[in-house]
Amino acid sequence: MIINKSEFVISAPSVERCPDDNKPEYAFIGRSNVGKSSLINMLCQHKGLAKTSATPGKTLLINHFLINDEWYIVDLPGYGYARSKTTQSKLQIMNTGYILKRQQLCCLFVLIDIRHEQKDIDRRFVDWLGENGIPFAIVFTKADKLTQSRAFSNATKWMNTLKDTWENLPPFFITSAANRKGREELLNYIEEINNN
Ligand code: GTP
Ligand code: MG
Repeated sequence: MIINKSEFVISAPSVERCPDDNKPEYAFIGRSNVGKSSLINMLCQHKGLAKTSATPGKTLLINHFLINDEWYIVDLPGYGYARSKTTQSKLQIMNTGYILKRQQLCCLFVLIDIRHEQKDIDRRFVDWLGENGIPFAIVFTKADKLTQSRAFSNATKWMNTLKDTWENLPPFFITSAANRKGREELLNYIEEINNN
């Protein structure tokens, strides 16, 4: 798929304040600093579209970006880090409300840093998505930090641990915002869903 146009539309503090034009939506979530905003900019080839930062906790609202005037990319606040307990629980309510209520959400991409062992917080989150019937896929980020074979073995090991709970594993992608790895695969996956 070719992205000709990507524009910021709105930062919403709750699902109720998100755009109501009923276009298909693809949201990105994961632990703070995993690379959500960077991946969105890489997919859109639009530097500065989503705000990135080396300090975790940059994205604090539900951000909608309209793509080709047809569908939305949604940048969600990260989980697992917040300046205070109050902010953390506010963000959790915001994300949970969005994920459970957003009818037009076609796929939630759960981002995982490819360098690390599976973290409990990610596992609990993925299990919760499965229990709630949310369509999702796993996106491993920062693959440029490892050799190709190490990246692949880390990703498959992570995915295989899901087999103890889940019969059908979600799709997964290995990406890097630094060298654009996985861009075509992710965009083709989105296009496939949009066409169905
Ligand atoms: P929050 O909004 O704070 O939750 O973070 P985020 O998940 O949106 O992460 P962000 O895109 O802001 O990136 C966090 C840091 O990781 C930044 O310093 C990025 O430059 C770096 N980063 C993101 N993606 C990659 C990648 O693919 N490769 C490398 N090497 N660094 C990356
Ligand atoms: Mg961000």
